[in-house]
Amino acid sequence: MKRTHYCNDVHEAMVGQKVTLCGWVNRRRDHGGVIFVDLRDRSGLVQVVFSPEQQEKSHEQAHLLRNESVVRVAGVVVPRSPETRNPKLPTGMIEVQVDHLEILNVAAALPFQLDDDTVGEAVRLTHRFLDLRRPEMQRNLQTRHKALQSIRRSLDEAGFLELETPMLTRSTPEGARDYLVPSRVNPGQFYALPQSPQLFKQLLMIAGFDRYCQITRCFRDEDLRADRQPEFTQVDLEMSFVDTDDVIATVEGVVARLFREVLGVELSLPFPRLTYAEAMDRYGLDAPDARIRMELTDITPIMRDTGFQVFSQIARQEGRRGMRGVIKVLRVPGGASLTRKEIDDCTTFVAIYGAKGLAWIKVNGPWREGGWQSPIVKFFSDAEKDALQAATGAETGDLLFFGADREKVVNEALGRLRVKLGKELGLMNPTPFSLLWVTEFPLLEWDQEARRFTAVHHPFTAPMQEDFPALNGGEAELDEVRSQAYDLVLNGSEVGGGSIRIHDPAMQRRMLELLAIGQEEAEEKFGFLLRALEYGAPPHGGLALGLDRLMAIMLGVESIRDVIAFPKTQKAGCPLTQAPSVVDPAQLRELHLRTTHVARESGT
Ligand code: AMO
Ligand code: AMP
Repeated sequence: MKRTHYCNDVHEAMVGQKVTLCGWVNRRRDHGGVIFVDLRDRSGLVQVVFSPEQQEKSHEQAHLLRNESVVRVAGVVVPRSPETRNPKLPTGMIEVQVDHLEILNVAAALPFQLDDDTVGEAVRLTHRFLDLRRPEMQRNLQTRHKALQSIRRSLDEAGFLELETPMLTRSTPEGARDYLVPSRVNPGQFYALPQSPQLFKQLLMIAGFDRYCQITRCFRDEDLRADRQPEFTQVDLEMSFVDTDDVIATVEGVVARLFREVLGVELSLPFPRLTYAEAMDRYGLDAPDARIRMELTDITPIMRDTGFQVFSQIARQEGRRGMRGVIKVLRVPGGASLTRKEIDDCTTFVAIYGAKGLAWIKVNGPWREGGWQSPIVKFFSDAEKDALQAATGAETGDLLFFGADREKVVNEALGRLRVKLGKELGLMNPTPFSLLWVTEFPLLEWDQEARRFTAVHHPFTAPMQEDFPALNGGEAELDEVRSQAYDLVLNGSEVGGGSIRIHDPAMQRRMLELLAIGQEEAEEKFGFLLRALEYGAPPHGGLALGLDRLMAIMLGVESIRDVIAFPKTQKAGCPLTQAPSVVDPAQLRELHLRTTHVARESGT
């Protein structure tokens, strides 16, 4: 008996036909002699029926069927009686009258019912092979497969070569810690797993391959969140003889086709573009969710001489990018109806991002008519109130929230508050997918603690041509140097990032110098790239999409764990395989390793 169909493929036009199906017992119901079983496979469900009159032996066996046992059934497709039809199920108009049942494997008592929403993630991940049987997980992973095929087709048609790069390699600086692998044959030496294929894809451009792509795993040892995994998948690409516009247009083509082929959604092209400066100014974040109908307003100049000392002092604070004092307002349409408790909750929320307070004004009417209710309005002059009204365009019923602090703190606090309130109060455009580019990121970021610059994207990103001269300036000028780096943002999440690279060896050396990476260190870490740049490197640039994040948002799931077959927990563990684990001392000896960690008695 060979399978003839998948469960979901049995339909009305097949009435009278004989079919053989294989799958799992999703549910069994006994109805006065007749036994109904929902049979499930990766395609979906179909109802199969065992009646004593039809086939006595199968019917008897069917009594023994447990949920999640594996069976093969053969029978005839028959129409369901009108009262038992299920319009919600694609196969809901028919059922299969079984005349032959084969129990292929019996399932033990289940650790949890698959459709029980109250089961914790730890239990689900421990039994991931069961958890993955849930229709939602089947859908997510099957959609992921379709997405991969769509992306591969697009890139192939656009002339990209799919080339593989090493997993056992040297560190690639993407800002996270490395996962290290000890070398047995080179005592005391380690490989690093790639944080990205960045350096190799640049070498492939120098080698003349012109267009490279790879759908590949990247490894980063960083603090995990819902949108971060220690290993994740990038759609990585690199192109020669291109500028920012070329890379952006190529990626837009791939993404638009992906949404069309996988979701049937038409995105309008080109995606809007914002500069980093504009994004920070208007939204406070470098990955803004443009669906939210609120923006920030900078009122620093208005507050320089105000009687509210907290504000005037901050408004006069000079400083480097991110460190100068600013005062910004978030206008919340209709927010005047927020209760005192709700406003206090917002204050607690912004404190997470370092805000020391969250002043507010409830606009119950024009200020001249005493309509502004607030603990701080009494400190403002009439001129200041007029200026504030003009700057914010406040309307009756609104709430104004004020953030005053260093630019960095205000932007993050109000930027996050904007997203939180936008979602909670429904101040969002109904567009399901909002894509945009953020361009012209700063090249460098000053690290106050280490007292040196770090690269905002990575050390191989090219500065904007207009800003080349500033590379020889002082620290204040260097703060302002913009790069040819761009991020793709979907619904307020960074789903891709890339840049045009430095292809001139002198410029690359200057960049490393600015990052306080000495010649010796540069040679030791990236000598191979610096050398390669000396032998005819074409201008090149590229980008990597975070496939897991992209899939999670396309599928509308909360966590990227829901689009990865075998994800890790917050503590970077795999409850299924119990990795990571202690290893045999002999294995450590062979690797010339000894751990200093002493395992606790309790076994934790
Ligand atoms: P970047 O570091 O921005 O760029 O990474 C590209 C994209 O990968 C996704 N991503 C992650 N997804 C899940 N878990 C993680 N821990 C994680 N870290 C990053 C994000 C991000 O936008 N070499 C450059 C690309 C280039 O310049 O071409 C790079 O790796 O969606
Ligand atoms: P205070 O004078 O400290 O009682 O503050 C009056 C109001 O200003 C309160 O609503 C505070 O939350 C708010 N406030 C104080 N410091 C700041 C700040 N740095 N940014 C925004 N609001 C603040």
